[in-house]
Amino acid sequence: MVDMTVKIGNVTLKNPIMPASGAFSTELAQVMDINRLGALVAKTVSREYRIGNPPPRVAELECGMINSIGLPTKGIEYFLEHQVPDYKRFTPPLVGSISAQTADDFEAMTRDVDVPEVDVIEVNISCPTRNPGGGNFAMHEDHTFNVMSRIRKATAKPVWCKLSPNAGDVVAIAKAAEAAGADALVIANTILGLKINIDTFRPAIGNKYGGISGPGVKPIIVRMVHQCSKAVKIPIIGCGGIVKVEDVVEYMLAGATAVMMGYIIFRNPSGMLAILDGLEEWCRKRGFARVADLTGAMIDEPPMETFAAAAAPIR
Ligand SMILES: Cc1cc2nc3c(=O)[nH]c(=O)nc-3n(C[C@H](O)[C@H](O)[C@H](O)COP(=O)(O)O)c2cc1C
Repeated sequence: MVDMTVKIGNVTLKNPIMPASGAFSTELAQVMDINRLGALVAKTVSREYRIGNPPPRVAELECGMINSIGLPTKGIEYFLEHQVPDYKRFTPPLVGSISAQTADDFEAMTRDVDVPEVDVIEVNISCPTRNPGGGNFAMHEDHTFNVMSRIRKATAKPVWCKLSPNAGDVVAIAKAAEAAGADALVIANTILGLKINIDTFRPAIGNKYGGISGPGVKPIIVRMVHQCSKAVKIPIIGCGGIVKVEDVVEYMLAGATAVMMGYIIFRNPSGMLAILDGLEEWCRKRGFARVADLTGAMIDEPPMETFAAAAAPIR
């Protein structure tokens, strides 16, 4: 038996596998046992009803997908009245994700979702199509520190800060979030991109620019997880391009304590559970008694194959 539990601050998850915000809903219980997941992560909610961006909202890429959904939401009241009770029919901890355009509203939203049924507050300060001064605070360390400090003071609940891979210096942002009191970092949201339809010469999605996710982003985000894990002490949740067991292992070796998955859910909703089973099997076969022992276990030395190849005789 492999111990699959992981600890993120004072929250213990029964395993490190979670869905990513925006890619999951309780409707998935129709096709899989969502009680097996480490936590349930709700779609980002903001104060008012938002209709979201014009369609098409998603397009396929060779390396994954591009989306600009535009954070549609029925608003905070609907979330608390209807969605939270719906999530609480299931056993994993509930991670509520919030977004706001101003630091004032972020603070107020934090107080609003500070209800007993919400176990963790994920702070989405990294929607790639939002303005750095409003909603996309994770583009700058000062904005990040300011908004996260306000959020920290507004709640005693665990706060997970979701960073942007579009920031120039993600390590500086990670340090700012930690200094402001975040309990964990989620690395990361999507990478801003553009796909052009070469028949129409127009953008492929309604908002023109969108966020790229899926396998193509994985090496970039694994690198960010590794860099940030060397710079902060708080746990990191890796998120970007996970489609198989080996991807989870890579994220954990790079320094992640747990992972979240978005793209794979659109490809194969129950893929998360296949990955969970496969991860346990991977650990068992290699003699890891605790999945948590993978975290940060990357050996930071040159690849052995390079030496072997260089030293090999010419044939
Ligand atoms: C269709 C779609 C909707 C998303 N909506 C949200 C959202 O509401 N809040 C959020 O924080 N991230 C959102 N994301 C980003 C994901 O949570 C995740 O950070 C990103 O997709 C990278 O993971 P992946 O490569 O496994 O998809 C969304 C991603 C997709 C593809």
